[in-house]
Amino acid sequence: MPQAIIAPSILSGDFAQLAVESQRMINEGADWLHVDIMDGHFVPNLTIGAPVVQSLRKHTNAFFDCHLMVSNPEKWVKDFAKAGASLFCFHIEASQDPGKLIDEIRSHGMKVGVAVKPKTSIDVIFPLGHKIDMCLVMTVEPGFGGQKFMEDCVPKVKALRERFPELDIEVDGGLCLETIDQASKAGANVIVAGTSIFKAENPKEVISTFRNKVNT
Ligand code: DX5
Ligand code: ZN
Repeated sequence: MPQAIIAPSILSGDFAQLAVESQRMINEGADWLHVDIMDGHFVPNLTIGAPVVQSLRKHTNAFFDCHLMVSNPEKWVKDFAKAGASLFCFHIEASQDPGKLIDEIRSHGMKVGVAVKPKTSIDVIFPLGHKIDMCLVMTVEPGFGGQKFMEDCVPKVKALRERFPELDIEVDGGLCLETIDQASKAGANVIVAGTSIFKAENPKEVISTFRNKVNT
């Protein structure tokens, strides 16, 4: 199984100080920064777009794991590549032609992720597993931080890991010290966490616990 990658979600940070918050997370031991892009259409919330990612890029070389919770993700590939996104993760539910979109993202020099909402069957990912760098298995309904981890999504992680031993499998939503075991045992290696890292008294300790749970 691939090594642990811990990706704090800057959605839980102070948006007025994104550069400071990003650097703080890197100093605490984060591997990636998870950037939640919401369009108020695919999900009932609005966040940031490529211009903010582009501004943030000027302040850090960190790996930007961009999670696009948007309708028509095709529309944004060029902008996010230009903005300095490292990985472009789109929702399978939002894409008309995932195969084409995967090629398009790669041709713009970004890594490719495909996300599935809790109610979407993981079977839809099986034909794409060899073409992508990462699959994001949502463990809450996308749209907001601070929600409760949905245990019934865990078997999807396990089914994916059985078929793709080397794939980066990311979990996102409600990850904390109480839920990490279930996710890591099922085979998730990329751990996104907003609330449990940003609001922790000692984020470094939380990050390092997550890492140890995945790597053992
Ligand atoms: C939710 C976002 C998550 C969110 C996770 O739609 O995709 O990345 O920030 O936040 P927590 O860890 O608080 O559930
Ligand atoms: Zn996310």
